[in-house]
Amino acid sequence: MAKSFAGLARNAAKNGTAITVPKEALEVAPLEIHTLGNKVLRKSARRISKVDESIRDLTRDMLRSMYTAKGIGLAAPQVGIHKQLLVIDLDLENPTTPPLVLINPEIISSSASIDTYEEGCLSIPEVYLDVIRPSSIKLSFRDEMGRPKKMNADGLLARCIQHEIDHLNGVLFVDRVSNHEDLNIALKEHGFDSNDVQNI
Ligand code: NI
Repeated sequence: MAKSFAGLARNAAKNGTAITVPKEALEVAPLEIHTLGNKVLRKSARRISKVDESIRDLTRDMLRSMYTAKGIGLAAPQVGIHKQLLVIDLDLENPTTPPLVLINPEIISSSASIDTYEEGCLSIPEVYLDVIRPSSIKLSFRDEMGRPKKMNADGLLARCIQHEIDHLNGVLFVDRVSNHEDLNIALKEHGFDSNDVQNI
């Protein structure tokens, strides 16, 4: 997910991972982030059966790529890898806050209350549009050591997790934008094709 304004949620820290890399932009990101129109974004990710060093290496490369792109969330399908892995960091300004790594994340329950919030995506650069989603969620996942965990999230964190889990299912935030007029204008302005949006 791309950052449209300063993050408010701070509860990523208590679930933060032991995997950290410097929060700085590299000249060349280790992984290429694919953009709207590329079919890799539409393919569902598979569950990770074994959380091993190769998964932790991939996590580090995803974090480095996310920090280079100045994003607050990145899902493996965005870099063409169809594994259920995503990284989130809402606190880019603070070098010591650990990121959140979610492996095989599953939303167990969502609140009835909903929020409208402006989202962006590293795969659809410069496009920011309102999306309606549940305000809070409960989820299960595995951490970077393969340990099963559960957590509650609200605010920007809940928003970001739902956005990234959508990527694991081949869904993009533009598929959820209800104002089609704004959507078409924004996509055209930034050189994207509205035919690449899918109805969900
Ligand atoms: Ni995204």
